[in-house]
Amino acid sequence: MKKLLIGILALGFLSSCNSDNITNQQELETPSATPDVAKRGCASEEIRQEALKNNPELRQKFAALETNTEKFANDLKLGKVLADGTVEIPVVVNVLYNTTAENVSDARIAEQIAVLNADFTATNSDINNIPTEFQAVSAGDTKVKFRLANTIRKKTNTKSWKTNDAMKKASTGGLDATNPTNYLNMWVVGKMTSQGQTILGYATFPESAGLWNDGVVIAAPFFGKTGASSPFNLGRTATHEVGHYLNLRHIWGDANCGNDLVADTPTQTTANYGKPTYPLLNTCSGVQRSVMFMNYMDYVDDAAMFMFSGGQKTRMQSVVASSGARSGLRVY
Ligand code: ARG
Ligand code: ZN
Ligand code: CA
Repeated sequence: MKKLLIGILALGFLSSCNSDNITNQQELETPSATPDVAKRGCASEEIRQEALKNNPELRQKFAALETNTEKFANDLKLGKVLADGTVEIPVVVNVLYNTTAENVSDARIAEQIAVLNADFTATNSDINNIPTEFQAVSAGDTKVKFRLANTIRKKTNTKSWKTNDAMKKASTGGLDATNPTNYLNMWVVGKMTSQGQTILGYATFPESAGLWNDGVVIAAPFFGKTGASSPFNLGRTATHEVGHYLNLRHIWGDANCGNDLVADTPTQTTANYGKPTYPLLNTCSGVQRSVMFMNYMDYVDDAAMFMFSGGQKTRMQSVVASSGARSGLRVY
């Protein structure tokens, strides 16, 4: 157990260096028809690694989080924990709009919640696109659902936001989180950039549970479906970001042939974009595998992602379980 923990920590730090380099490279080489939207990095893991570097307390929480995840997986295996109760997560949507188009409608918010519920219960209309070889490891119903608890709106003069959490504090022009221990807070902003590139969204991981900045941020053009911006107009940026919020890593482990700490997602070389053709073969450590680019935790277009794996479900369940870092998220 101790060894494993040390291994995880070492891995985290190694991958932080790697992922920085890789992400920077990718962001520099982006000559595309729609450069802002077609290919980008997600800042969540980088921001986390920076925060971990400077904060031993946060590192301790991170380590405890992974220990608990392992314990839960073991308990499940032994039949001590039965993950048959669906956890319904109450959601507060904080809308910060400059233009009226950015003031996403109640209908569009409902649409986004419906997408989350479909994707997390495997009732999404494209679930049958899962290739035969991955059907056995599909999560099916993750037993996590979402319910809109409140919508808070505020007009702002800010047209473009950075990934510095300014949108999460009234004192910096944003909206304060509502009770982040008990509610998943989502912030919808007009536009967001990281290192000069437009990004779709970012999330905090469970070691941030209950902190003022805990939650998910999504840029309005990628929130919901109706009126959203193709090819990210099926509401799956939220699915991806809530995956992070429930402790899922990017499927490529944020490093070349990196580790996402999920056994049933095949190791893959790097992020995938657009709509890859199945099968897509990657070689890591001399082993060639067909990779699961249709996983929500890859970077493909919304229409090309439609599954979580069973191992990912276990990680998310461990976080919302009564012993988990996000056990406070309950509709009472
Ligand atoms: N955090 C990622 C980003 O900012 C989100 C990627 C979501 N992918 C998607 N197809 N919606 O790019
Ligand atoms: Zn991400
Ligand atoms: Ca894996």
